[in-house]
Amino acid sequence: MMEEGFSLGDVAATALVTLYCHAIETRSESPILSDPKSVEITTVLDPVLSRSGDLLEQTLAKGALDPMLVVHIAIRAKKYDHYVLDFLAQYPDGVVVNIGCGLDSRFLRTDNGAMHFYDLDLPEVIALKKLFFTETGRYHLIASSVLDDAWLSVVSAHSGPFLFLAEGVFMYLGSEAVKSLVLRLREHFPGSELVCEVVNAFWLKKPLNKLVEYKMRRRLHFGKDAVFRSGISRSDEMEGWHPGIRLLDDWSYFDSGEKKLGWLKIFSRFRLFRYVQWTVHYRLE
Ligand SMILES: C[S@@+](CC[C@H](N)C(=O)[O-])C[C@H]1O[C@@H](n2cnc3c(N)ncnc32)[C@H](O)[C@@H]1O
Repeated sequence: MMEEGFSLGDVAATALVTLYCHAIETRSESPILSDPKSVEITTVLDPVLSRSGDLLEQTLAKGALDPMLVVHIAIRAKKYDHYVLDFLAQYPDGVVVNIGCGLDSRFLRTDNGAMHFYDLDLPEVIALKKLFFTETGRYHLIASSVLDDAWLSVVSAHSGPFLFLAEGVFMYLGSEAVKSLVLRLREHFPGSELVCEVVNAFWLKKPLNKLVEYKMRRRLHFGKDAVFRSGISRSDEMEGWHPGIRLLDDWSYFDSGEKKLGWLKIFSRFRLFRYVQWTVHYRLE
C-alpha cells in the first residue's frame, strides 16, 4: 500500500493533520504531548506525501502546519488522554471506544494493562492504521462508519463500564446523525460516559460559516468535503435529547492554561471564544 501511495477522502484526510500535529509537537522543545508513535508513522509517510499532488499532503510532508493548530491539537489530545486515565482510575478494566480515532495512538499512551480499547474509524483510515498498529486481545480496530450499527454489538459483548470518545469527529457528521448516534449509545450502553468535541452552531450559520470554511480551506488546506456540518449552542444541549442524558462537565482549550497558547489565553474570558469549539462530557443513563 505504501509503495503506490494511498488516497483518503477529504474527511478521512483530516486524520493526517492531527497525526502531523502530534509529531511536530512531540519533536518540539517542552512538548505538550509525547507521542513517539506519531513520529514513527510520519517518518514513513513523509516520502509518500511529498510525492503527492495534493496540497494538504505536500504541506504535511513539509511540516508546514500553523503552529497554533499544532498547539491546540496537542492540548486536546493530552486532555482526552486524561479523560481515559481518569476513567481507568475508577474502572481499571473498563472499555474505551475511540470514535473517529484517525491514526492516533491513545491506547499506547494510556494502557493500564487491563482495559479494552477499541479504535473505530472509516475503513480507508483503518486500512492505513493497520500498517502501523497490531490488534491484541485488548486492543481492537473497527473499520466502520460510526453511523453503521453493526459495531455496537461487537462492543456490547463486553459488560463495561464504557467510555466513548469522539475527538474532532462529530462536527463532520450531520446534526440528525449525531443526535441519533448519541441516543443509540445511551440505549445500548446505559450508564456509559461520552466525551465529545463540539462546535458552536452559531458559527455554522450563514455568513459566519464562510469564515470557518475559509480558514479550513485556505489556512489549513482541508479538502472541500471536510466541512463542519453540526454543532450545539450550549454544553447542556444534549440533555434535552433524552431525560437520561446528563452533562458532567465541559472543557475548553483555554482551561489548560498552556503557556504555548501565549496571548490567545486572554480569549478564555470571553464566552463567545471559549465556546467556539469545545468538549462536553455526559453520562448516558
Ligand atoms: C480530525 S480527525 C480526528 C482524528 C482523531 N480523533 C484525532 O484527534 O487525532 C476526524 C476523524 O473522524 C473520522 N470520521 C469522520 N466521519 C466518520 C464516520 N462517519 N465514522 C467513523 N469515523 C469518522 C475521520 O475519518 C477522521 O479520522
